[in-house]
Amino acid sequence: MNRKPLGTTNLEVPEVGLGTWAYHAGPEPLRRGLEAGALFIDTAESYGSEPVVAEAMRGLRDQVFLATKVSPENFRRADLFRAADQSLQRLHTDRIDLYQLHQPNPDIPIAETMAAMEELVNAGKVRYIGVSNFSVQQLQHAQAALRKHKIVANQVRYNLVDRTIEPDLLPFCAANGITVIAYSPLGREWHRLADGDPKGVLRTVAAETGRTPAQVALNWCLCQEPVVVIPKGNSIAHVVENCGASGWRLSREQRARLDREIVFRRRSPFEMLLRRSVPPGITQSVRRMTRWLPRGLRRRLG
Ligand SMILES: NC(=O)c1ccc[n+]([C@@H]2O[C@H](COP(=O)([O-])OP(=O)(O)OC[C@H]3O[C@@H](n4cnc5c(N)ncnc54)[C@H](OP(=O)(O)O)[C@@H]3O)[C@@H](O)[C@H]2O)c1
Repeated sequence: MNRKPLGTTNLEVPEVGLGTWAYHAGPEPLRRGLEAGALFIDTAESYGSEPVVAEAMRGLRDQVFLATKVSPENFRRADLFRAADQSLQRLHTDRIDLYQLHQPNPDIPIAETMAAMEELVNAGKVRYIGVSNFSVQQLQHAQAALRKHKIVANQVRYNLVDRTIEPDLLPFCAANGITVIAYSPLGREWHRLADGDPKGVLRTVAAETGRTPAQVALNWCLCQEPVVVIPKGNSIAHVVENCGASGWRLSREQRARLDREIVFRRRSPFEMLLRRSVPPGITQSVRRMTRWLPRGLRRRLG
């Protein structure tokens, strides 16, 4: 398993980690992922997966880079401390390697939240500070609010069919030594990548490289220097397959072909804001309904 630097720290993390949102397969697939070298697990207080992560890590804690997230309603100092202690308890550990603000909360001053994050680092409960779903401007504000520490990572959506971060966030992170943790690197549901690939380029490149389409899709993300990926698999087969996305690279020509032939989107800041303000229940119902639409239309509504 290849590793990449974590921000500007001296630490390197596996370039393929294990996502755990909507994970319900028990400790074994995660355990097999750890054994395959993906010694990096991503969870969140809101996922409900912290206890199973604790089980999967049993006996391996010191080898695992453990990332979790605090929900935006807990960004006040006292709430943040309580949330961190509860995560530590559920994870059966005394430290969180990467503690991430799950998404911006404009209702709570970032200075208060970041000061509290620094207190957690100083207390030894957190090793590194990260954020998630932050724009360039939000990253700049958050970093400016820190006195001593640096933001080491921003966790954002990035995959072959959603390249929203490419024009500004990705170059900003590369230039400022911030690791990009790509979530939904398989499109969140495999059919989304298939929908964006009418010519079957993923299969062709998979045949050329002797890899699988999922490994090609993940490797495409990893070709960007600051990017690591955290696919979620609910089976041993998926998790182990995804670990095989590391240790090799697509050729320049294969990358260019995927860049060109896969139909992708870039969401506008307004669309992202709108999506964040729609209650999750409504988004899920819309998603269920769009499954029955023709591929082209489904892709546009994605
Ligand atoms: N910070 C945030 O706001 C945020 C948001 C979303 C996600 N995340 C993090 O990122 C992680 C990954 O994102 P995600 O869960 O949205 O989506 P994802 O990893 O892009 O895709 C997961 C889907 O792909 C399927 N899959 C996994 N491996 C596969 C393979 N080798 N071949 C074919 N299909 C495969 C899974 O099926 P099975 O489940 O059946 O294996 C599942 O349906 C999350 O688990 C979470 O840790 C963070």
